[in-house]
Amino acid sequence: MRTPVIAGNWKMFKTVEESREYFRTFQPLGQKEGVETVLCVPYPSLPELVEAARETDIGIGAQNMHWEEEGAFTGEVSPTMLKGLHVSHVIVGHSERRTHFAETDESVRLKTRSALDHGLTPIVCVGETLEEREKERTRDVVRNQVVQALKGLSSEEATQTILAYEPVWAIGTGKASTAEDAGEVIGFIRQTVEEQFDSRAAERVRILYGGSVKPANVDSFLDIPDIDGGLVGGASLDPETFGQLVSAAS
Ligand code: G3P
Repeated sequence: MRTPVIAGNWKMFKTVEESREYFRTFQPLGQKEGVETVLCVPYPSLPELVEAARETDIGIGAQNMHWEEEGAFTGEVSPTMLKGLHVSHVIVGHSERRTHFAETDESVRLKTRSALDHGLTPIVCVGETLEEREKERTRDVVRNQVVQALKGLSSEEATQTILAYEPVWAIGTGKASTAEDAGEVIGFIRQTVEEQFDSRAAERVRILYGGSVKPANVDSFLDIPDIDGGLVGGASLDPETFGQLVSAAS
């Protein structure tokens, strides 16, 4: 009943020219029956890719935004600007932003609220560090991040978000979580959404796994009923590899 999502997060990779090249190869591979495909790309590539993807089912997303519509915030990009470009999704609270750019639970909440207010689908990232995992704090950390991010939303709004469980220790390390462990935490996130909202929201919200997803392991994640797809970094940078991940979900 939940449409799977395969979302790429290019992070700080690819010039506009490289993005254009990529999309030429990716377009036929990225559109598969029954899969929502999204590419979250650097700001400069957004106009080009939104235009290239206009007649396709591929969503184009940003990797961050400010929550205010405008103001004296040097270097920031607003939801109104993204909406004006016809961007469809925005990643919120990625661990790299939490770690390197002082993203807090409160800014994640404000951005999630603002994305929904502006008709953008927020892909809200949560996940524990290795240290937190070793101290067996995974559930506490993840529950707190989910509850804070979704605080104040209606149940219907909660279902319009996409959550992504990305254990920090699995990001860019080649060391993915096992599908069983990821499924267990994602099941727990679903339960958290049920406690915070209701069973309808828990049944409908899409929850992705992210962290070293690649063609060799994607099926193991997709086989777990609670896992609705992947948020993919490194393996989204090559159009053919990313196309294989989209195919796996269809
Ligand atoms: O947002 C996706 C990401 O953090 C996972 O990166 O390179 O481990 O797939 P990667």
